Amino acid sequence: MDYEISLETLLQHLGEEEPFPYGSVTPPIVQTSLFTARTLRERNTQQGRNEFGYTYTRVDNPTVRLVEQKIAALEGTEDALCFGSGMAAIASAFLTFTESGAHVICVATAYTPTRMLLESLLVRYGVQVTFVSGECIEEFAEAILPNTRLIYLESPSSLYFRLQDLRAVSQLARAHGIITMCDNSWATPIFQNPHALGIDIVLHSASKFLGGHSDLLAGVVAGRKEHLEPVRRTRELLGGVLDPLAGWLLLRGLRTLSLRMERAHKSGLKVAEWLAAQPQAAKVHHPGLPTHPQHALAQAQMRGYSSLFSFETHPIQEEQAYAFADRLRLFRFGCSWGGYESLLLGWAQTESDANGKASWLFRIYVGLENPDDLIRDLQGAIDALTP
Ligand SMILES: Cc1ncc(COP(=O)(O)O)c(C=O)c1O
Repeated sequence: MDYEISLETLLQHLGEEEPFPYGSVTPPIVQTSLFTARTLRERNTQQGRNEFGYTYTRVDNPTVRLVEQKIAALEGTEDALCFGSGMAAIASAFLTFTESGAHVICVATAYTPTRMLLESLLVRYGVQVTFVSGECIEEFAEAILPNTRLIYLESPSSLYFRLQDLRAVSQLARAHGIITMCDNSWATPIFQNPHALGIDIVLHSASKFLGGHSDLLAGVVAGRKEHLEPVRRTRELLGGVLDPLAGWLLLRGLRTLSLRMERAHKSGLKVAEWLAAQPQAAKVHHPGLPTHPQHALAQAQMRGYSSLFSFETHPIQEEQAYAFADRLRLFRFGCSWGGYESLLLGWAQTESDANGKASWLFRIYVGLENPDDLIRDLQGAIDALTP
């Protein structure tokens, strides 16, 4: 095109310049494990590929390929690879860029299974790990060892939604020849592009906002081709590929990503601001609130905020926490997020005091319901948390 088009438009049109079979507006789900060649000679002279370049869905699939092209465009990376889950993507990236004796620096507040992958699985293969809070650049500089291969970031990170300065960390890493990775599931490419800030590899649990409807599991590794080629070989060997049907659902989710994120930004902030004004909430952890200790950094490296955040209570009895949850009518209780339904999780985050009271952390996911209804629901329940 001879004029610039916006990302939302590109997302709808990219890879769809030629009509799909029968003039269908939605892409075909190429639900096959195998692609055959017309002749054995053709196959043998094209490294096992057929005339369309395909061999086997563990290697490549046209439906999945279309999703990958769209996600690469969204993240501003040369390419992207899809996996059967976020953890399959993260594990494949770790395994590609570490070896026995390698050292990894990881943010301590990363998603717990990501931490566990490093500290309970990769350590068995001789990988060394240092966890850092990630909140100041000096901490990263001090953690670097001669064998550091990888710095793993998640910004904002799980549960407390702490940030890392992506530009500063990537500059530091580059000066030492260290690869940087960042889990961008929370902000999504609509609100943050880690690669544009210097991060080498961007990771996603596409089971969250990218899919957007709580009906699929998927993961993404995005970056430059030089990094993705070895990750592609790992994917082929470990087999953690995305299924074509899930790829098609992901494609459908992406169509409305920018609309859903706009809504998530507004609704999430509205509910977080309301909670911050309630005496029962001792602290609200949302990077979009001016009270968040890294709000200025959030404004500098993100264009908006998603709708997953947490709040802390004053010391309360366990029964009060469960009474609060029991009174809610519009929130369900479950661990994922990024779909249409609002969710709540909660647990005591301190030991009980002499009166049997502890401070609780509640994680809230604001879905696509009207935020005023969600606030009314919380209003009817929050008295239960009065110390
Ligand atoms: C921040 C973050 N990264 C990665 C994952 C893992 O993704 P998946 O569940 O798709 O394997 C999750 C899942 O909850 C997550 O919250």
